[in-house]
Amino acid sequence: MAQEQKDVLLEGHDADGIQEYDNALPKWWLYGFYITMLLGVLYMFYYHVWDGGDWNVLWFGARGQVAEYSSEMSHVKTPLKPGARDFSSWQKKTDEASLKIGETIFQNKNLCFTCHRPDLGGLVGPNLTDDYWIHGGKFQDVLKSITTGYPEKGMLPYGNNNHLTDDELLDVASYVFSKHGTHPPNAKPVDPAREVLVEAGS
Ligand code: HEC
Repeated sequence: MAQEQKDVLLEGHDADGIQEYDNALPKWWLYGFYITMLLGVLYMFYYHVWDGGDWNVLWFGARGQVAEYSSEMSHVKTPLKPGARDFSSWQKKTDEASLKIGETIFQNKNLCFTCHRPDLGGLVGPNLTDDYWIHGGKFQDVLKSITTGYPEKGMLPYGNNNHLTDDELLDVASYVFSKHGTHPPNAKPVDPAREVLVEAGS
């Protein structure tokens, strides 16, 4: 740049003797800058505003936040309900002694029979002897039902050392299972809206 132009174009400020010229930015730089601004807006809209959709596959396989989130969450195991545990390794007992203990708990500890009736035919709580279950009829489901309880329906959680130790929990659940198919008279009718048929033995 010619010497005589320098004074005119010199910016007013001075930092430790360093001064700068007020030169026009090169066009290539300026347009690059505008393009990055435009891309920034598109990027923000695409990743942070748009919730994704079928069109996304056209866009470098990227997905919106919502799609990204649900895709990540689909890999996560459904968390257990509070109080619930993983009972997958628990096997039901069938020996006389354990079932007797289970019966004592069910009938005498004032826990279960008050709502499910001494013959398990159901009263406030559902019939526990039939093939119809609200919360699943596998042995593990019954263990879960007892430990989580259904406070909103009136059944408190038992187990986890709340009234029942693990051994007692296993025995009482085994006792419930041993009463399956006993057809007590005047059992509480099935609620077709909530109870589903569970194949015996499953
Ligand atoms: C205060 C009443 C009450 C007591 C006590 C009670 N329950 Fe329940 N129980 C219920 C009710 C009500 C339900 C149904 C919950 C629902 O509608 O979702 C239920 C559901 C269940 C279920 C699930 C049934 C299904 O169809 O999925 C099992 C198993 C069960 N109870 C076992 C027990 C055992 C074992 C005990 C004793 C440790 C017990 N309950 C104590 C009221 C009670």
